[in-house]
Amino acid sequence: MNIIKMNNEDIIGQAAAVVFAAQVIKKPASVLGFATGSTPLLTYEAMVAMQDAGIVSFDEIITFNLDEYLGLNSEHPQSYYNFMQRNLFLPLGLQKENIHLPNGVNPDPIAECAHYDAEIQKAGGIDLQILGIGENGHIAFNEPADTFTQGTTVMTLTPSTISANRRFFDREDDVPRQALTMGIATIMAARQIVLIATGINKAQAVHDMIKGPISPKVPASILQMHPAITVFLDSAAASML
Ligand code: PGA
Repeated sequence: MNIIKMNNEDIIGQAAAVVFAAQVIKKPASVLGFATGSTPLLTYEAMVAMQDAGIVSFDEIITFNLDEYLGLNSEHPQSYYNFMQRNLFLPLGLQKENIHLPNGVNPDPIAECAHYDAEIQKAGGIDLQILGIGENGHIAFNEPADTFTQGTTVMTLTPSTISANRRFFDREDDVPRQALTMGIATIMAARQIVLIATGINKAQAVHDMIKGPISPKVPASILQMHPAITVFLDSAAASML
């Protein structure tokens, strides 16, 4: 793990955006894995600013998101499809056919998971994946469990994740209880990973990810085995290392 501590989240967002820009300069039609949540927003802002300034063009990228809520269609304001459109895809002007998220309203979610993995394979695998980390050590929606997940799967969210996601919904009852998520093996197959963690509420999870034993109880701990991962931390998130 290449661990980089930086003073604040703005600088981290810019640094992570540079990693994405470098990837796209090397390979314009890169397959990029994106994440939702608060953590990657500054990275996305910086990517858009770099494109607007003419430094790089993300025109040709192919995207795969980590996850989508089960039962929310793409038009739902809190669907991850909608989140990505608002925060990255529309500002970058991406073509719809190059964007992939699991379909949360496929009546056969198991078939949807298999289809999603097949689409990733067909695209040649993910070149660069961005990740956040949950307070409980989850990556994507891979919650602490007795075994590591493999491919894309249907996951029941833990109470800790439901309460962390509560802020985006009017009522706690509105937070979906299940999601379709890339599995751990899918994530580990990405050729390069950037993980960002900021804030004191992530300090324990960051400690357990980096210093703890590799265990499905802390899904992010498997990333110790990834050959090309850069972890960007602010001082609060790094405070228990
Ligand atoms: P956050 O979520 O970026 O909103 O903190 C990260 C995660 O749960 O993976």
